[in-house]
Amino acid sequence: MQKALTLLAGGALALIPVAGLTQEAAIYSGMDRIHPAWAENGMVVAQEQIAAEVGRDILAAGGNAVDAGVAVAFALAVTLPRAGNLGGGGFMIVHDAETGETKAIDYREIAPMSADRDMFLDDEGNADSEKSRFSGLATGVPGTVAGMQMVLDEYGTMTMAEVIAPAIGLARDGIVVTADLADSLIGLEDRLKAWPASEAIFYKEGGAFFEPGDTLVQADLAATLQLIADQGPNGFYTGQTAQAIVDSVGAAGGRITMEDMAAYEAVSRDPVTGTYRGYEIVSMPPPSSGGIHIVQILNTLEEYPIGFLGHNSSETIHLMAEAMKRAYADRSEYLGDPEFYDVPQAELISKEYAAAIREGISLGRATPSDEIKPADLTPYESDQTTHFSIVDKDGNAVSNTYTINFSYGSGMVADSTGVLMNNEMDDFAAKPGVMNAYGLLGGDANAVEPGKRPLSSMSPTMVMRDGEVFMVTGSPGGSRIITTVLQIIMNVIDHDMNIAEATVAPRIHHQWLPEVLRVEEGISPDTLAALEAKGHVVEVMSTMGSAQSIVVDHEAGLLLGGADTRQTSSAARGY
Ligand code: DON
Repeated sequence: MQKALTLLAGGALALIPVAGLTQEAAIYSGMDRIHPAWAENGMVVAQEQIAAEVGRDILAAGGNAVDAGVAVAFALAVTLPRAGNLGGGGFMIVHDAETGETKAIDYREIAPMSADRDMFLDDEGNADSEKSRFSGLATGVPGTVAGMQMVLDEYGTMTMAEVIAPAIGLARDGIVVTADLADSLIGLEDRLKAWPASEAIFYKEGGAFFEPGDTLVQADLAATLQLIADQGPNGFYTGQTAQAIVDSVGAAGGRITMEDMAAYEAVSRDPVTGTYRGYEIVSMPPPSSGGIHIVQILNTLEEYPIGFLGHNSSETIHLMAEAMKRAYADRSEYLGDPEFYDVPQAELISKEYAAAIREGISLGRATPSDEIKPADLTPYESDQTTHFSIVDKDGNAVSNTYTINFSYGSGMVADSTGVLMNNEMDDFAAKPGVMNAYGLLGGDANAVEPGKRPLSSMSPTMVMRDGEVFMVTGSPGGSRIITTVLQIIMNVIDHDMNIAEATVAPRIHHQWLPEVLRVEEGISPDTLAALEAKGHVVEVMSTMGSAQSIVVDHEAGLLLGGADTRQTSSAARGY
């Protein structure tokens, strides 16, 4: 395998392998530039290499993007257990090239029927984050298995048994522990060892750490996957797996019932759409906030000459931060599960509203957040979710982001199932004015209610041109997901970067509260000083997101993959 010179986040240069990079491709993408991986037929870009190869092999064997997507989702549950999952939920945007239709599949977790608005408050009425993050109450009814069955039924060409088979093999025979996996298990030791069933799987006898090169076998997970292969979603939502989840969650103080499990349904929705400089943006509608706010921020920025002002110049970052702050303020008020709250989607994504927002933006001065809307400050927490993007030889595409919320979710594996449970209930607003783990505020729109989906930032997205897929993208990163996806789009459209450059370029983020313009390493000190002079509170913090994207170059007949070097196991694999 050849190597390509790649700029790592933080500015370091490194040699990383790029699948099948030939001299021709290197010349095509310009020797002076960072190379995207490329393929002619189909491509999978994911945060973990083995799972990306599972998807690539399904495509090469004649499966379509959805067949590959379901296979990758189940494989990641084995190979990237901190985020890939059966015990969580997520969103998938699917483009069907034959009909030209694009749909948004919502398999977000739901609150159990016994949930109530004040379930995360202590006796004094204060929000108790221990309950919403690390107890059985933290867990919503999982949606991943139902979501995968729904897309396979609707768009797939293969059976569940066929696409789940690689994941079963990986769980049963074991995976080679990478440095990335070993490190994350060391880092999350306290969270996982709080639960004996988790410790038994993710640590050796006596609690010792796995080392890179060791083999991790997940026999219970293999058996659970086999039940799904044999029975479909019934193998998860009814019978012994459901009972084990109900019992484990219950023993940890949670309230999920067999009825909650059996009643779970994924939903197919119309995506949020908008336009930006002649491209069509297609992204996730509520219960995600992502699509609405990506379109809202792009609408706000469209009338400014962003390309002329330059990538990561102080003028560009200033305008982006001002647009972001206003969007996140709206998020705290207006976004929630659309089945429970009337989200003013049409207003938020209208060009007229964006024009009104621009009137409030000063070119020279940062608007203090309390002039936009008052509230408290809270620190960020860095966690894990994961995204993958797929395009097949016929132009079908899948953009999928799914999660158990924190790294390894609540940390709890349901006894005898091998399934790590989510702590997605923390994405609800436990109490108005109290921030969640990502510093996000909410009120009535995102209050806990039985059967309701917690508001998400996950933003699987496609950019279309003339009805065809131009870009597939998405990222983890909690509240930073929306701004990460925004920057991938802007880097390509405004700054003419190829998808690898767009992915490694240093990112910025502002979410209104806390009042911090967060930046990655790699933006010049002069630029940061100019931003401070405008009144921004700038902080250089750890990297944000793990974007996994594909751009379709219709003229060259190539798929160009950008795997995010911020996560060492990311990979673009094509054929
Ligand atoms: O749905 C959401 O917005 C969050 N639960 C996502 C969490 C996440 O991205 C953590 N990863 N870095």
